[in-house]
Amino acid sequence: MTSHACDVLVVGGGIIGLTAAWRALAAGATVTVLDPAPGDGATRAAAGMLAPVMEAGFGQSGLTRLGTESLALWPRFARSLEQAAGLPPGAIGLDRTGTLALAYDGDDLAELRRMLALHREWGLGSVEISPDDARLREPAVGPRVAGAAWVPGDHQADPRAVHAALSAVVDAAPAARLVRRAATALTWVDGAVVGVSDDAGERHAAGTVVLAAGFSSGELFPGAPTRAVPGTTLRLDVGPELTSGLVVRGTVQGRPVYVVPRRQRADGRREVVVGATSDERDDDRLTRYADVFTLLRDARALLPALDDAVFVEATTRSRPGTPDNAPLLGWAADGLLLATGHHRNGVLLAPLTAAVVDHLLGGAPGAAVPGAALEAAVLLADPHRFARTTQGVAR
Ligand code: GLY
Repeated sequence: MTSHACDVLVVGGGIIGLTAAWRALAAGATVTVLDPAPGDGATRAAAGMLAPVMEAGFGQSGLTRLGTESLALWPRFARSLEQAAGLPPGAIGLDRTGTLALAYDGDDLAELRRMLALHREWGLGSVEISPDDARLREPAVGPRVAGAAWVPGDHQADPRAVHAALSAVVDAAPAARLVRRAATALTWVDGAVVGVSDDAGERHAAGTVVLAAGFSSGELFPGAPTRAVPGTTLRLDVGPELTSGLVVRGTVQGRPVYVVPRRQRADGRREVVVGATSDERDDDRLTRYADVFTLLRDARALLPALDDAVFVEATTRSRPGTPDNAPLLGWAADGLLLATGHHRNGVLLAPLTAAVVDHLLGGAPGAAVPGAALEAAVLLADPHRFARTTQGVAR
């Protein structure tokens, strides 16, 4: 049974899917979003770190560049999303206050210095500072910290506020429909995607399908090699004395941990997100006792005052990984646009994803995007890159 026809059908209502839906609406399209529980995937667990610098990995200069380009687009993305959603400036919690990196012991400091050398080589602006200088920036830093760095290039935004703003835009748009069902199959005709079936047996015809179904994208389209990378984040509620509001991240005996304080509420308290584990296993949403224990132990090793925080929530969801952990952004077949595989960087890469969708759907750009940034994104995130590699090896 065919229910509705639309110009653009987006499979997945997380931050990436709704960003694509927003940009398709801005391009004048009629849009359907298909998701049984919008925002309850990776978006739900995301901490919202906009951290191309501290997430930079050796050998991943391309991905780091995508991150820094997307970060540069964040202020305009935030402003135009807040405007579209009818929200006041600042409502989605973009904070560009930098990040404090901490090393717990000597080995952690050696690793931090290795990272700082990479940051220097790539011109990312991080500098080593003393633990005392770290305490001047964040008085809650504990006494047993071996070293520190100031990372001016990493920031944060509140993913749940971003998702709520995107939902408000889609809900209010007469040309948009949200269907709370799961996609079960793409509809193909002569090598082109022309729609999607859902788990109620309905078929939705669409001129373009945007696949933004996170780690399960590959189940609908095997040409999207996504895998689940489950992780747990914790949410705490803290009083004004426990943090100055600076993002802190570090390693404690080799284990990474981050602490992301949201803006202070009117009552003086604030949400703090502690994260994150990262596992290579099948998707599940079961929070392991040991993960909660380890995250809290490591967070309090860096910021002992967190002991007075109120425990609010532990959330386990899967990030969408790809073979090289760069996203899949672009046309995969006639009628099929991929916007998935953002791994640890879905929130960071939302503005660049918006720019690529604007470019590919011929929409009005929400931000003036440098052509070189767009070209780099289209090349690095090309959905066909793995097929090319396989063919190259086979030859
Ligand atoms: N962006 C950090 C994480 O995925 O844990």
